[in-house]
Amino acid sequence: MSDFKTILDAAIQQLGGNEAVQKLLAVGASALSNYRQRGQLPAAKQAILEAELTQQGWYLDLEGLQLTPLNSGQQKRILLLITGGIAAYKALELARRLMDRGYQIRGVMSKSAMEFITPLSLAALTGEKVYSELFSLTDEAEMGHIRLARDADIVLVAPATANFLAKMAHGLADDLASTICLATDCPVMIAPAMNPIMWAHPATQANLETLKKRGVTLIAPEDGDTACGEIGTGRLAETAVIIAGIDRLLAPQKILSPLSGKSAAGLLGRHILITSGPTYEPIDPVRYIANHSSGKQGHALAEACAKAGAKVTLISGPVQIPDPEGVETIHVTTAQQMYDACITALPADCAICAAAVADWKVVNHGTQKIKKTKAGTPQLQLAENPDILASLSQHEARPALVIGFAAETENLNRNAKAKRERKKCDWIVANAVGGTGQDAVFGKDTNRVTVIDAQGHEDWQQTSKTQIAEKLITRIEAWFNER
Ligand code: PMT
Repeated sequence: MSDFKTILDAAIQQLGGNEAVQKLLAVGASALSNYRQRGQLPAAKQAILEAELTQQGWYLDLEGLQLTPLNSGQQKRILLLITGGIAAYKALELARRLMDRGYQIRGVMSKSAMEFITPLSLAALTGEKVYSELFSLTDEAEMGHIRLARDADIVLVAPATANFLAKMAHGLADDLASTICLATDCPVMIAPAMNPIMWAHPATQANLETLKKRGVTLIAPEDGDTACGEIGTGRLAETAVIIAGIDRLLAPQKILSPLSGKSAAGLLGRHILITSGPTYEPIDPVRYIANHSSGKQGHALAEACAKAGAKVTLISGPVQIPDPEGVETIHVTTAQQMYDACITALPADCAICAAAVADWKVVNHGTQKIKKTKAGTPQLQLAENPDILASLSQHEARPALVIGFAAETENLNRNAKAKRERKKCDWIVANAVGGTGQDAVFGKDTNRVTVIDAQGHEDWQQTSKTQIAEKLITRIEAWFNER
């Protein structure tokens, strides 16, 4: 009978031996023997090991003491729900490509999907029975709809029509596909496709918000010509984009470092906490103190971290840009709310404070709109807000790596260096925010930064905020890999 040590050793053997695995997990020889003795791996290390083995075609289950080839029945299972729109025909190609990548597909079709493609074509492609009836005695005897809903690693709705999104958002269960969405306890991913006006309709957008808040992953539709002849957003995302979304959830990959082009361990299994955007401090119910931050830099960081396999909690002030994909976004308004959300999100492996947090709040803010009176100009009484970066740096559950930003209008390096020391963070990313036009930072798509740590500073040339984010994530990966 296998024990933990035998399975772990078999996994290590499969990955090229002790040295290769030490390098992969960024640990020394003594850590590996500790894991053997303890009969347990830290969750983050286990996730890296599992993902690496998945890439090599193996399935590792350390709790169930199994190491088996993926094609021996341990493939990840996708329950593909096809709902009725012209894009339904693309679901056949999607199913085929997912199977090519080793996923096992079981199909469910709504009545209207069957107006566009036949269950027979999907069954022939997947080699599996296709289900469509809620009240089918044969199907219920063979596989009850509750089991069907749960016997999967993910439920993928592609294409998802506006009508189906509405049913999901409101918990309707009037056919097999919608009942599955209500009865499943698996992660759910939706890839909508519809007419652009239907997509933009406030009802559809409200339904989407509801679903996203419930943890449903959205693969957003793309822009272009739609089947109905109108141009706009509504085309089913490309097959490759949907597959990348599935891979991200079911088989997180190692990413290539954008700096070195070499394979990096990525941030798989790491929890990264990011703040982004401005905060608003109320003066009265209609006025507030704010700043020009758009959230572009902080959101780009969140997206890059998620791409590198991290679990990301993004605490965002009020911004006009969408929540990044694959990221848990918590929306706040004031500095105090941002502070509370950050502390609640601990523990984390790394914190990046890119938000432009108001340093002061109005303590005597009005509960009614302040009126002009003959008594003169109202006097706002200010008090300091909690310093989130300094608090995280000194918290008993301090993330291993704490990174701040410094927005300076003068003496960039000197002020930023002093800020790093005062706030006790590990690195500070300094940007000069006093510029205008090409040199502006707030709200723009580009930035130029200097990264300051205990060893010195690096000047990075002006580039897109996305590239700054990727470069910073690569630096973070390298930092974790070296530990
Ligand atoms: O959002 P964009 O339009 O893309 O613009 C990006 C940006 C300019 C906002 C961003 O790159 C940036 O510099 N963010 C930090 C802005 C800022 O508030 O800097 P600061 O020097 O005032 O604060 C220093 C650090 O302390 C920052 O990490 C800040 O998040 C943090 N801080 C400040 C005050 C406070 N009460 N709590 C904090 O955590």
